[in-house]
Amino acid sequence: MSGSILALDSLSAGAPNLVQEILNRSESLAYIAAALLFILALASLSKQKSAMRGNVFGIIGMAAALIIVIVATTVEGDQMPLATLGFILVAVLIGAAIGVWKALRVQMTAMPELVALLHSFVGAAAVLVGINSFLATPGDGTYEGAFHMGEVGLAVFIGAVTLTGSIIANLKLSARISGKPLMLPGRNLLNLLMLVVCLVCIGWFVATQGVDQGFVPLAILTVVSLILGAHLVLAIGGGDMPVVISMLNSYSGWAAAMAGFTLGNDLLIITGALVGSSGAYLSYIMCQGMNRSFISVILGGFGSDGGSSSSSSSQDLGDLTHTEVTPEEVAERLKQAKTVVISPGYGMAVAQAQFPVAELTRKLIERGVDVKFAIHPVAGRMPGHMNVLLAEAKVPYDHVYEMDEVNDDFDQVDVVLVIGANDTVNPSAETDENSPIAGMPVMRVWDANNVIVSKRSIGNAGYAGVENPLFYNENTDMLLGDAKDSVEAIIHAL
Ligand code: TAP
Repeated sequence: MSGSILALDSLSAGAPNLVQEILNRSESLAYIAAALLFILALASLSKQKSAMRGNVFGIIGMAAALIIVIVATTVEGDQMPLATLGFILVAVLIGAAIGVWKALRVQMTAMPELVALLHSFVGAAAVLVGINSFLATPGDGTYEGAFHMGEVGLAVFIGAVTLTGSIIANLKLSARISGKPLMLPGRNLLNLLMLVVCLVCIGWFVATQGVDQGFVPLAILTVVSLILGAHLVLAIGGGDMPVVISMLNSYSGWAAAMAGFTLGNDLLIITGALVGSSGAYLSYIMCQGMNRSFISVILGGFGSDGGSSSSSSSQDLGDLTHTEVTPEEVAERLKQAKTVVISPGYGMAVAQAQFPVAELTRKLIERGVDVKFAIHPVAGRMPGHMNVLLAEAKVPYDHVYEMDEVNDDFDQVDVVLVIGANDTVNPSAETDENSPIAGMPVMRVWDANNVIVSKRSIGNAGYAGVENPLFYNENTDMLLGDAKDSVEAIIHAL
């Protein structure tokens, strides 16, 4: 009798363990599945053809991750599971509503500033998670405790730098503050000093015990990191912002990974590391695309030594004259041409001219003209901006080429149509060593037989604020007016 009571006891005591074990295993499996889906998403996003599939992988992975985290938090939470679930669902609903509202309203051209804002949320989350983790489990004098405090310190540091850096990037990109680099005297030394203060505070923080001791170094660390993030991005000139955005993307990934360490959440660590490393690699590719030093970007140091400023021009082109063409003349030249290259830029996005451009392309291909699109790595306002627009307008992928694939062949091209691009086709990057965009690889459209530039005015500069001598070349003709209207007029004339 007493034996069977013992057996019953152990079974009932084992039941919660069994449930816990099943939950732990399903959690691990779901995390692995979600991590694999994120890796598949990244891999698929690298090709235009598979990008849609990549998005679907990402959505499924994120949904799976959210569900398992919500279930695990609710079940494992030590108090009031229903209230916990309620709080999480309300937070998710509010976040989702704001996200959907923003995504529906945002213009393609305003995407980078939205992305910057989203990075700032990741930074803020890492700071809040870190502070919360410290309040819940402050240092206790053990090695484990010290390790945990180190994780919290790093999460707060990277998160705070990402938070203010991204807010400044958002304000610069939306032109709510000037895009000019802020040149404080001795700014590199200032950055170094702030970095040292942060590292000292992290060391101090690690050695503390209890909330009272840890509060002061954490507070100093948070404030100095916030100032450092803002100062790093304020020092960067407008033309260099694309690299900054992808760098902040990387920082936000590392901030999320650190938050994953403090929360003990493996999936957050994996996802954060994926975002952090892919963002860093993208920044590296973009640095190569703009001929900038990767290290100086990470340190927020460039933009000063020849980096772009918004309104400077190293050349005075005032005395030069330009020639203009009508859409009818352009149509006539396109009819005669055997090879045509279209080089789109930010202006095509603003004018939403990608649809008539796609139609023009179809008409030319039907006439037997060899049409190629030449895409500069930083054309537009975000990585892949032009590719997305062209895909949206259903331009066939096999007509879209990267800059490097076509840049040496422009001398064999009959007509180049530059549609709303400016900095990316500016020869002064190669010829004028004092130009703010000196050294940035540009598309050598001027080698073609005839260049036609569609933009609204001759005077307005591009994003880097640099005048463009291309417009005054003998083989260049300006087609002035809104890009969409101009291309529609060319189609009409064809
Ligand atoms: P930009 O150099 O910015 O030139 C765009 C041109 O489009 C302007 O000269 C403008 O002249 C014209 N334009 C504007 N609205 C137009 C319209 N409705 N119709 C026709 N033309 C119009 O563009 P880009 O060549 O693509 O170069 C990109 C620049 O942005 C680079 O400096 C790059 O560093 C920077 N940037 C890039 C990114 C990324 S990641 N791609 C992110 C941030 C910044 P008008 O005003 O006379 O029409």
